[in-house]
Amino acid sequence: MTYFEQMKEKTALLKKNDDVLVLALESSCDETSAAVVRNGREVLSNIIASQIDIHKAYGGVVPEIASRKHVDVINEVVEQALDQASIDKKNLDAIAVTFGPGLVGALLVGVSAAKALAFGLSLPLIGVHHIEGHISANYIEYPDLEPPFICLVVSGGHTQIIHVTNYGQYEVIGRTRDDAAGEAYDKVARVLGLGYPGGPAVDCAAKKGNPQAVDFPRVKLKDNPYDFSFSGLKTAVINHLHNLEQKAEAYITEDIAASFQEAVVDVLVEKTIKATEMLGQKKIVMAGGVAANSSLRTRMDLETNKRGIKLLKPSPILCTDNGAMIGSAGYYRLMQGEISPLTLNAVPYIELKS
Ligand code: KG4
Ligand code: ZN
Repeated sequence: MTYFEQMKEKTALLKKNDDVLVLALESSCDETSAAVVRNGREVLSNIIASQIDIHKAYGGVVPEIASRKHVDVINEVVEQALDQASIDKKNLDAIAVTFGPGLVGALLVGVSAAKALAFGLSLPLIGVHHIEGHISANYIEYPDLEPPFICLVVSGGHTQIIHVTNYGQYEVIGRTRDDAAGEAYDKVARVLGLGYPGGPAVDCAAKKGNPQAVDFPRVKLKDNPYDFSFSGLKTAVINHLHNLEQKAEAYITEDIAASFQEAVVDVLVEKTIKATEMLGQKKIVMAGGVAANSSLRTRMDLETNKRGIKLLKPSPILCTDNGAMIGSAGYYRLMQGEISPLTLNAVPYIELKS
């Protein structure tokens, strides 16, 4: 029997286990994370080593530095995750890892480490799509949550409205045609001199600004009312600042941040609610780094409350990249009998498939 066949057999037996312990690795961007998750819902440990302080000096993530840093810390992060969970490697049931999308060199570090662990410990390996991980963060935050629901995914690389019809089953209702919401936040933060990472900095500055100070565009796309476009908004902010600078007029950074954020939040909330009503759903969950945004959370609360729609949002630590969300997504894939071969590779661009 080949290694893969042996692991398939092991995976089939997992369904009969009361306790399925998954060690999960995430290294798609600038966080090295490892977590131990029980039965897809209970986090025994979730170690996150952030590289923010290193990339700050460059105003953004430098891919080559990110890969090297992941290599430096990954073994230590895995050891810490096992220690904190008080779990011996021998008691693990499977290894899950983000295989894409993300920075290819960064992903490769997690994928290689996971393959070595799986082979060395004779455990099934499961490659997880990063966005499936973000969505699954909600299964950890809300242990009773079951599909179907609508998920607004807003991260540094993605902006999508997804109809989650079952575990691992996705229908993309709307997506960005150009920049992701997080990308727009990071770019605007940079031109406003707020530094990296941009999202939290704009969020913070916006709290002190007037959201009505500048009427930035809210793009409507005729052929799909649920699609987004943020590049025009980003350019509008840049042009607005250039115009003021050329006329040597002063501006209030906080007002620009608040007005930009208002435009982003307006379209995210409006389209998500519209898609939810169109599909007759009653539950919205939020996912991804931008889901930590205070204004987006408040407005989503307000608008869903008005309409009797239930809103679920993970705590900020589960919104941004972490290993626990990968452990949850990996668990549900394993329960469906899915595993990856040891030839699993990192894939920088890959759509979320059912
Ligand atoms: O999900 P994530 O950690 O990584 C990706 O998969 O991309 O998301 C990172 C993105 C960055 O663009 C960051 O600026 C943004 O999430 N972000 C925020 C906030 N916290 C993180 N954007 C707006 N407000 C926040 N509070
Ligand atoms: Zn992410």
